[in-house]
Amino acid sequence: MKGIILAGGRATRLRPLTLVTSKQLLPVYNKPMIFYPLQTLIDAGIKDILIIIAPDYSGQFLNLLGDGSEFGVHFSYIVQKEPRGLAEAFSLGEDFVDGDDVTMILGDNIFLGQDFSQDIKNFKKGGMIFATKVPDPERYGVVEFGENNEVLSIEEKPVAPKSNYAIVGLYTFDHRVCQVAKNLTPSARGEVEITDLHKFYLNKGELKVNTFEGTWEDAGTFESLLRVSNEVAEMEKLTDSKK
Ligand code: DAU
Repeated sequence: MKGIILAGGRATRLRPLTLVTSKQLLPVYNKPMIFYPLQTLIDAGIKDILIIIAPDYSGQFLNLLGDGSEFGVHFSYIVQKEPRGLAEAFSLGEDFVDGDDVTMILGDNIFLGQDFSQDIKNFKKGGMIFATKVPDPERYGVVEFGENNEVLSIEEKPVAPKSNYAIVGLYTFDHRVCQVAKNLTPSARGEVEITDLHKFYLNKGELKVNTFEGTWEDAGTFESLLRVSNEVAEMEKLTDSKK
């Protein structure tokens, strides 16, 4: 299993902070944001990790993360010149993935107290995604379930969401994903959509959607960045008080 951290994009919503560095390098309490998704991959036993970054602050990622030996893993880097969509990670990363299975995590997605390691280690074939209930599903990819928990539909940022289940930024796919990503057509907003990859596996009856309860933040706004920093601070205090 290979790993990808998608850490490009422009993060205009976090300006002026993102005029001096990348969103994924901003502090979340006591660590740079990217350390959290990185830990999720490391916990799943993934050792070979591609980090996809935007051109502007690429040197800062290298300074911080290096070749990965400090973390006991190996990093490769690719610069994505323009943010052309999440699914582009798999066409950019085709040589890196090299026919293996791959787990991608978004560089601004933070999971606290969640353990996905067994799900990822036990992955066999097809696609596996994760969903959780949110109050504002229209901001995300949304999955609709039927009476027997079967997946009825998947939509990207629907105006009228069919459920409260948001698809979070952690995706495991088998080797077919790079070929499928290369053949995607951009959506109306000009991006190759990750939800089209989910639909490829869904249409083949090979998409597994796991739900979970617990803390998940897409730290792309000032509110969510502050909230997740406070949550981490609380967790650290609890850990310290037990020492
Ligand atoms: O956070 C989960 C959501 O992430 C999912 O529910 C959606 O299905 C998925 O499309 C995505 O939605 P976002 O609106 O959050 O995507 P955003 O454009 O903010 O990009 C997510 C991260 O990926 C962000 O840190 C920037 C990075 N990115 C984005 C694009 C479009 C890249 O590195 N390259 C890109 O081309």
